[in-house]
Amino acid sequence: MAGDEHGEHVPWWRDAVVYQIYPRSFQDSSGDGVGDLRGIESRLDHLSWLGVDAVWISPFYRSPMADFGYDVSDYCDVDPVFGVLEDADRLIAAAHDRGIRVLVDWVPNHTSDQHPWFLDSRSARDAPHRDWYFWRDGRDGGPPNNWRAAFGGSAWTPDEDTGQWYLHLFLPQQPDLNWGNPAVVEAMHDVLRFWLDRGVDGFRIDVVHLIGKDPALPDQPAGLGQIDRVGIHDEPRTHGLLRDIRRLVDCYPGERVTVGEVNLHETAAIRSYYGVRDELHMAFNFLALSVGWTAAAWREAIETVERDLGGEAWPTWVLSNHDTPRHRTRLGGSELRARAAAVLLLTLRGTPFLYQGEELGLEDADVPAARRVDPGGRDGCRAPIPWDATAGHGWPVAEPWLPWPPHAGERSAERQRSDPDSIAHLYRALLHERHGSPALRRGALRLLPAPDDVLAFERADDGDRRLVLVSFSDQAREMTLGGAWRVAVRSVGEEPWSGRLATGEAVVLRPA
Ligand code: NOJ
Repeated sequence: MAGDEHGEHVPWWRDAVVYQIYPRSFQDSSGDGVGDLRGIESRLDHLSWLGVDAVWISPFYRSPMADFGYDVSDYCDVDPVFGVLEDADRLIAAAHDRGIRVLVDWVPNHTSDQHPWFLDSRSARDAPHRDWYFWRDGRDGGPPNNWRAAFGGSAWTPDEDTGQWYLHLFLPQQPDLNWGNPAVVEAMHDVLRFWLDRGVDGFRIDVVHLIGKDPALPDQPAGLGQIDRVGIHDEPRTHGLLRDIRRLVDCYPGERVTVGEVNLHETAAIRSYYGVRDELHMAFNFLALSVGWTAAAWREAIETVERDLGGEAWPTWVLSNHDTPRHRTRLGGSELRARAAAVLLLTLRGTPFLYQGEELGLEDADVPAARRVDPGGRDGCRAPIPWDATAGHGWPVAEPWLPWPPHAGERSAERQRSDPDSIAHLYRALLHERHGSPALRRGALRLLPAPDDVLAFERADDGDRRLVLVSFSDQAREMTLGGAWRVAVRSVGEEPWSGRLATGEAVVLRPA
């Protein structure tokens, strides 16, 4: 069994690199232009080649797709667009055969408005499922409180038939479940058991900080009225609910894991959702989604995480996901920067989450107005993965549901796998280095003095050490380092370490 420097057992997910699959855009097998579970299975080879330890698959359950799967109408079945339940079983088994663990996406805060629970709930004031959601009388002809929904507008929609309003912190098609009702808790726990029994290794939990609610649903303080609720909802009731979820998941053998989306802005606030090893195993840390491309900004982000997520709260890092522009796009389209960012992501202390296609250095697609489909304006980062340089890029259709990302042929997985200098090979080398280095996986992180436009830190675990240097400069930088070092991984170039960081270069050094 793996142990840390104190001989303590280290759960697999602390050592892991997790890869997010957005199933609509990974690989289509059926020919409808939308990715599916069989498609994912057919591309597991790519993930083995890259060396990832686990995948998190965004929702593939039955859904009317108002929010492309984050509006679930049956948690225990696969949407026909993605396949059938047996495809999920096959995929889990095929991933396990390759040593890749599988996390599924659990959406506990809201269902689809087409879920049978909500259809019943809205049918009458005394319907059996009425109290599974939040129904309230309006106030002065308007909504019951001043909460705003994530995609704009009030978080309340009136229902003519029963004359009350229902709460939805996202789209009106995503009514919020009432976790204050024990029947909801039981039904949602059954969903966890359903997937755990099918062999999944854990859950990415969608906006889990929202599930606890004060039944009085008090107004937000004046002045915060226009800020959407999702980023500020920090309600003590959630913690008890998380402890019950943790107990359930921990009952299963094999270190099943939860990684929760806690969309609060303060890292210190996110810390509390780990509990005392009795709430989330991990929470997403979204700092790097918005950190500016300067050494000072990264230094501050790292200091924040080291300060606020010390001890028991194991950090996570993520540069891109299906909700935000890809980091290469955010960084101005520069591959040089995307390469340096990859070095950072894969050498920081904490579990890194990759988003499909970042290993190909993809940028967001330019989606013409006529093809935009997402209510949150997130289509660009969800463009399909180009697998090869043919016209269909390895998809069985000419035109998938969204347009291709820029330079799809050149950036395709096949092209890059045959080019040892590609960014895909850099990711692979970084993963390999991380897997082989206890210092990178688990070691303490110490920021080192460096020129203003260079970020330098050490990772050390027992006898193992690595130095990481990242240049944000447009000039070469001479580095004065004590000791003798050689290159483990370099973001650009191959020449031996001479003490000189090239423009925009990032390097991982190991003792010579
Ligand atoms: C967070 C998910 O990542 C996002 O895609 C979704 O729209 C919202 N939660 C609502 O489920």
